Amino acid sequence: MPNYECIKVENENRVTTVTLNRPDKRNAMSPQLNDEMLDALIRLGADPDTDVLVLTGEGDAFTAGMDLKEYFRGTEHDPVLSERAKWTMREWSYTRLRFFPRVTIAAVNGWCFGGGFMPLVSCDLAIAADEAQFGLSEVNWGILPGGLVTKDVTLALGYRDAMYYALTGKTFGGQRAKEIGLVNDSVPRAELGEAVRELTDTLLKLNPQTLRSTKEALRHSADMNYEQSADYLAAKSAQLGSRDPEKGRLKGLSQFLDTKEFKPGLAAYRR
Ligand code: ACO
Repeated sequence: MPNYECIKVENENRVTTVTLNRPDKRNAMSPQLNDEMLDALIRLGADPDTDVLVLTGEGDAFTAGMDLKEYFRGTEHDPVLSERAKWTMREWSYTRLRFFPRVTIAAVNGWCFGGGFMPLVSCDLAIAADEAQFGLSEVNWGILPGGLVTKDVTLALGYRDAMYYALTGKTFGGQRAKEIGLVNDSVPRAELGEAVRELTDTLLKLNPQTLRSTKEALRHSADMNYEQSADYLAAKSAQLGSRDPEKGRLKGLSQFLDTKEFKPGLAAYRR
């Protein structure tokens, strides 16, 4: 991995943690941070040592959203620069992250504002610290939740909560984020690392190709009608059979039906 300045990339036991690393600026997403995230996600998507990816922030913030100085004011004099900055942001935080070929987890350690909802919602799973503060703060400084933030909050939240938080700009904590379905769980900040580890341990026991196909199936079929979904999911199942080197389906069937060594309703097959 290159020596990045605005992010940190660490791998331990097949889990890669990417940390937004501008704590002095509350990990605000500058064009340089966005370039580095795009580069890292392209590399990690092809990394044989990554089975799970965790996205978090250094210090007191997950991310304070877009860097108002460098991303907005710093590019507004140059339409090409501005367009490039917007493209890079969308490319990493929507396309690359949402369709990353491994399971992704957002560990929301602190402040999460505005544009920060894009990487948050793009992650497959999310755990927050109770102390984290979330906010659709765009309305507070005269813009609407752009990029894909509006689309993301209407996907992740119910209609009333999406409207309420987008229209008031009010902040809410980790427990509230759990209550409204924005994150899977919220724990005291001191326990966030352990909660993420428990989740990654569960995922690491499962077949990574099955996980990949499952997330892709969920993401894509959501926008299809029933007939398209049925056809796509049949094709997707066939694809999983051919791209799974450990032939999980056959192992699972055999360990349940022949050797009777596990119950698929209660646990995963022995890999
Ligand atoms: N863009 C640029 N710089 C930022 C941002 C940001 N989004 N957030 C924080 N910073 C900078 C501050 O300007 C300050 O820089 P300085 O030390 O050079 O003066 C430094 O980070 C520390 O910020 P403070 O405000 O002093 O930190 P504090 O802990 O008191 O407050 C908080 C944290 C609440 C996150 C506050 O910084 C804040 O409100 N930030 C903006 C949040 C926001 O609304 N983001 C935009 C969302 S909309 C969108 O993303 C499209």
